Amino acid sequence: MFRNALIQGASRGIGLQMCRYLLSRHTNVIATCRDPAKALDLTRLQHEHGDMLTVFRVDVQDEAQIKELSAQVGDKKLDLLINCAGILHPSGKGETSLREVNSQDMSATIATNTFGPLLMAKYFNSNLAKKKSENGTAKAGKGSKNREAAGVLVNMSARVGSISDNGLGGWYSYRMSKAALNMATKNLSIELGRKQVICVSLHPGTVNTDLSSRYLKNVDPAKVFTPAFSVDCLMNIISGLELKDNGKFFAWDGKEIPW
Ligand SMILES: NC(=O)c1ccc[n+]([C@@H]2O[C@H](COP(=O)([O-])OP(=O)(O)OC[C@H]3O[C@@H](n4cnc5c(N)ncnc54)[C@H](OP(=O)(O)O)[C@@H]3O)[C@@H](O)[C@H]2O)c1
Repeated sequence: MFRNALIQGASRGIGLQMCRYLLSRHTNVIATCRDPAKALDLTRLQHEHGDMLTVFRVDVQDEAQIKELSAQVGDKKLDLLINCAGILHPSGKGETSLREVNSQDMSATIATNTFGPLLMAKYFNSNLAKKKSENGTAKAGKGSKNREAAGVLVNMSARVGSISDNGLGGWYSYRMSKAALNMATKNLSIELGRKQVICVSLHPGTVNTDLSSRYLKNVDPAKVFTPAFSVDCLMNIISGLELKDNGKFFAWDGKEIPW
């Protein structure tokens, strides 16, 4: 498993569950959220896990806050960075037609879903690329295929960001933000791949969180995952990543999604 992880967007939903998962496996976690005073589940986790969990305030729409986080983390080795924060749209409802598109809401969605993860990569790539400690404790467990990688960067994307998978249309801002995020992942995989950092986009499935809740009533309940199930699947993929997987887009079940 990983020794040190940074989970960006950890107040609730998938990001919070990522923290739970990693802490339960003895990974030190740096978690970010917009407002620690309101992130009560994260605060509870901090009480349970003490020094293993450090929480910082970061709104990913504000590069100055990401830069400040980078100053706080310093040159600490990170084995894993997961960019989780995301919004469907500031209204909570994706556009169903062009009539609903406006530049302010598009900008906010793309700032959060695309610029945020890329800026996190800008400020934390050197932490991921740092060599693992000599005693090897930062390495994944015995038998892991991950041992040649210096670190892993995960962008939480969505299947609806796949251009070739788009048969329905709608959700302009969200789809565009995730398609652009996927391009960021691909670019990062080339630049950071030179430093043995694996960069991937992941689709968590349809997960019962605040982001998706208003759309779940028409979905077959068997196809709606709990955050715990989704994160178990995602962490299974993440901990098995090899350098040859760099620059790919995987769904929760490990199948590759075409761009
Ligand atoms: N749920 C699904 O079915 C599904 C499907 C495909 C992809 N995804 C992706 O999975 C990721 C996690 O989604 P989720 O389902 O866990 O959603 P969620 O429960 O609504 O959580 C969203 C998280 O993003 C944070 N966030 C939003 N704007 C932010 C900003 N400007 N700065 C920092 N943090 C911000 C929220 O923090 P606050 O508490 O401060 O608002 C919250 O922690 C997203 O990238 C989403 O696109 C989800």
